[in-house]
Parts: sequence; C-alpha cells; structure tokens
Amino acid sequence: MEDFDFENRILDPSEIALDNEGENPLRPRTMNDYIGQEKVKENLSIFIEAAKRRRETLDHVLLYGPPGLGKTTLAGIIANEMNVNLRITSGPAIEKPGDLAALLTNLNEGDVLFIDEIHRISRAVEEVLYPSMEDFAIDIITGKGQMAASYHLPLPKFTLVGATTRAGQLTAPLRDRFGVVLRLELYAPEELARIITRSASILGIEIDPDGALEIASRSRGTPRIANRLLKRVRDFAEVISNGVITCETAQIALDKLEIDELGLDANDRRMLEALIKFYRGGPVGLETLAAAIGEEAVTIEDVYEPYLMQIGFLNRTPRGRCITRAACQHLGYDIPNAQDAQISFD
Ligand code: ADE
Repeated sequence: MEDFDFENRILDPSEIALDNEGENPLRPRTMNDYIGQEKVKENLSIFIEAAKRRRETLDHVLLYGPPGLGKTTLAGIIANEMNVNLRITSGPAIEKPGDLAALLTNLNEGDVLFIDEIHRISRAVEEVLYPSMEDFAIDIITGKGQMAASYHLPLPKFTLVGATTRAGQLTAPLRDRFGVVLRLELYAPEELARIITRSASILGIEIDPDGALEIASRSRGTPRIANRLLKRVRDFAEVISNGVITCETAQIALDKLEIDELGLDANDRRMLEALIKFYRGGPVGLETLAAAIGEEAVTIEDVYEPYLMQIGFLNRTPRGRCITRAACQHLGYDIPNAQDAQISFD
C-alpha cells in the first residue's frame, strides 16, 4: 500500500480496511440494487443473460475508471448473477507465476476471478495469464537442465474480471484478451443521493432528501466517499442535533470536516493554488506540479484530476495542466496570466 495520509483519509477514494471489515452491508448484491452506471449495467446485464442462456461462462471483463466507483462491487454482482463463486486478488498480490497458477487451479468451473489493479501485474505473471485467459490452460516448467519437465495443465473455464484506474497502462495483448471492456464514470449528485439514502436505510440513519443531496454534492462523484461522509455526518447529527441528517446538519458537519460545497478538500485547494501562485495558472507539466506539492504524479492523475476535470476546474492540454476561470473564481483568486488566456482558460 502507498503511504497513507490519515489526516486526509476521508476524501481518499482508495479502499481502506474499515470499508471492508467483514461483509460490507452497503455493497449491493444484485444489478437491480446497483444505482447509476446505467450504460454499463445495461450492457453487462445483456452479456450475463446471453451467457446464462447459452450455458457458457461469461467472457472476460475489464472495468476501468477512477477509484471508488464500484468495480469490486460489480465483480461481486457478476458472480452473484451468474451463480458462481467470486475470488478476489490484486495485481501486486500476485508476485510470481506460481501464485497465479495456485489461484487458477483452485477455481471451480465458471467462477469469477477478480484482479484489482491489474495494470500492476508483473511481466512474468502476465505471460501466464495470456494462455489461461485464452485457452484455459497453463504450461508449468519444473526443475532445471536435464531434470526440467513441462506440464500442460488444463484449467476450469473461468471469467476474469480485471479492474484498473488506467486502461492506458495495460499492454495491448492483455487488453485485447478482454471480450468486454467497460468504463465507469463519476456519479451525478442525484445518483449519489440515492446511494446515500439506500445506505442510510441499511444503517438505520434518518436522513432528509436535502441532507442526502448535500452530502452527495460534496462526495466528488464517488460512492465510496459518499458512504464514508454519511457515517461522519451521522456522528455530528447524533451529537449536535437529534440524530436526523438534515441539509443544515450536513452543511455544518461537512464544513467542520473542511470539505467545501463542491467537495474540494485541502489537498485539492493546495494543488489548484500551487497552479495559480507558482505557474500563473499553467500550463505546467504533471511531474513538475507533483513535485511542487509533494504528491505522487499517479495520485494527482487518479485521485485529484478526474473530479477537478469533471467540474471544469482543470484542463489537460498537450502543454500541461491548466487551471480554469471557474476554479479561480471558486477559490477567490484573480485570473492570472491574461496573456496566455486563450490557452489556459476555457
Ligand atoms: N454502494 C456503492 N456503490 C453503489 C452503487 N452504485 N449502487 C448502490 N450502492 C452502492
């Protein structure tokens, strides 16, 4: 796991142990309970239904998009709807080809193997993954020199569900072996409000529609963040009001948590302010910006940028990152760099 910033945990869309303790009761189990991602759901439901009718295993599925949008949840739903088991692992956890071989040989016919962060598997593991995806078999070599022996090991037919935040980082041969490639999008506030209302009802929390929408609009389009904020706002509601989450309690709680009306936290503001103060609004290269604020470039790309671009606060241009007029206005800054205005501002 990367270095973990406990202070800023609440808006971090990466999965942490707490989200996953035991069975997460907030995780929908069926396609019907899964809110949003309408296009993905529609297509996936057809592929599942068709595979079931033909009594075949589902083709391999690649899910990609920013963290926290429900890729693991969807893998669980696929397994559930196909009436098979789900095995969960991740790219970095499969260290050697032998680890993958052990996983694959333990699957039952039709099972779903979910590999999170699949872009992080090693080349050696990837070499074993190809034939297992394509031919449902692996070739294992044991011993050395004269003692070397090779075995062709047939595998049960399975469905690989791969998840990645960055489809562009997969090698072309790996990407091509997925029959179904689906991109998850950030959620609209109304969809997040429905997710929050559903979660509140599961957790026995009383919440007004306005309270749900208030939390939703500060959750950066991400259900994992929405559910986390719901739990924190409940704490405030129990202590400062009668336990009911109204729009007002949500506003007070989220202000105390330093999450602004658009869901920006101190990190977002720090990055945008660095862009304004050090680079006159941009353009500035990703690595330079990362160094300036002491963040990893991948964190900026995967965690900060998708939402900032979605709300029109940041542009990626061939010359680098540029802040927008709307972002400057939101942060209360004059628009810098008037000369480059055509390039930097929308
Ligand atoms: N919890 C997390 N993601 C969800 C979704 N898309 N629908 C319902 N509940 C969720």
